[in-house]
Amino acid sequence: MTDFKGSLILAIETSCDESSAAIVKGTAKGPKLLANIVASQVDWHEEFGGVVPEIASRQHLRAIDRIILRALKEAEVSLADLEAVAATQGPGLVGALLVGMAAAKALAFSLNIPFLGINHVAGHIYANFLVHEKIPTPFICLTVSGGHTDLIYFTDQRNYKILGRTRDDAAGEAFDKVARYLELGYPGGPAVEKMATNGADNINLPRALENSPDYDFSFSGLKTAVINYVHNKKQRGEEVDLADLAASFQQAVIDSLKIKVDKALANYQPQAMLLAGGVAANQKLRTDFQSLAANYDIPLFLPPLEYCTDNAAMIAAAAYYRRLRGESDPLSQEVEPTLKL
Ligand code: KG4
Ligand code: ZN
Repeated sequence: MTDFKGSLILAIETSCDESSAAIVKGTAKGPKLLANIVASQVDWHEEFGGVVPEIASRQHLRAIDRIILRALKEAEVSLADLEAVAATQGPGLVGALLVGMAAAKALAFSLNIPFLGINHVAGHIYANFLVHEKIPTPFICLTVSGGHTDLIYFTDQRNYKILGRTRDDAAGEAFDKVARYLELGYPGGPAVEKMATNGADNINLPRALENSPDYDFSFSGLKTAVINYVHNKKQRGEEVDLADLAASFQQAVIDSLKIKVDKALANYQPQAMLLAGGVAANQKLRTDFQSLAANYDIPLFLPPLEYCTDNAAMIAAAAYYRRLRGESDPLSQEVEPTLKL
């Protein structure tokens, strides 16, 4: 698609606790981001130690008009310039998704332009295509977020095979639950990472499914191991070194991911490796995967930190590639809280 006025896409993301609106413009080199407004709800959920769905929906409702207007203003475009409107269809919290989908459909209907419902997990992966111009194929992508841990082999940008998924908790969910148990704060991932910077990986924790022949992950046993470790320490009247525990837990998550990705790299011999999702914002994970990619002499592609956690820019990027193929969805499309890739 060349650089023309009609290729402007507005995307809305309201699947969890960030209200976000973004605008991309089609260029000969791919989607160019003109605006990405993220209104975080972290302050509202913090005191509950996790996302409260009812509060999330209400905050999205309060923010939605404002973030769309701010995105248009920042991009210096008007509603009449838009070629299509997209929103996250799922997975996510039903009441939260409904706010973004209803807004996007209403705009598409009133402007008489195409509407697209985008898979949130696909959005995380497409964050890479927003910032990296040429990603060689085939590639392997590890998506690690609060709700997902998926290892996927892509023969090209559209065709893929899911190699493995988590059997229980997602990697980010493990960070959130452990942070909550250790009272480190919310959201859990950045809180654990911060605590871990002053600690050492010196506590023995499990790497689940290490020797199983598949590419699946499991993190609920690791969470239990952390809880048992604290119980045992307390029973013996010993202090828990929170920094060491955070560093050991963080490394156990990273190693569990690395073991399966390493095996997939050896067996599938891809030309590149991608990371996506909120947990990919973790610095230790980023450096460890950089070394893993170097072992196989392939490049590692990572979204910048702000496109790892939830944002509408990634939804706009995914929508852009669907529009390139002339695709759109009917306005009768419903939200899908459990939508899979
Ligand atoms: O992708 P995301 O924003 O939302 C979902 O789609 O789930 O991911 C949020 C998850 C949370 O579980 C959060 O604790 C985790 O990503 N996360 C991190 C870091 N930043 C966010 N986990 C580890 N280290 C981080 N720096
Ligand atoms: Zn997400």
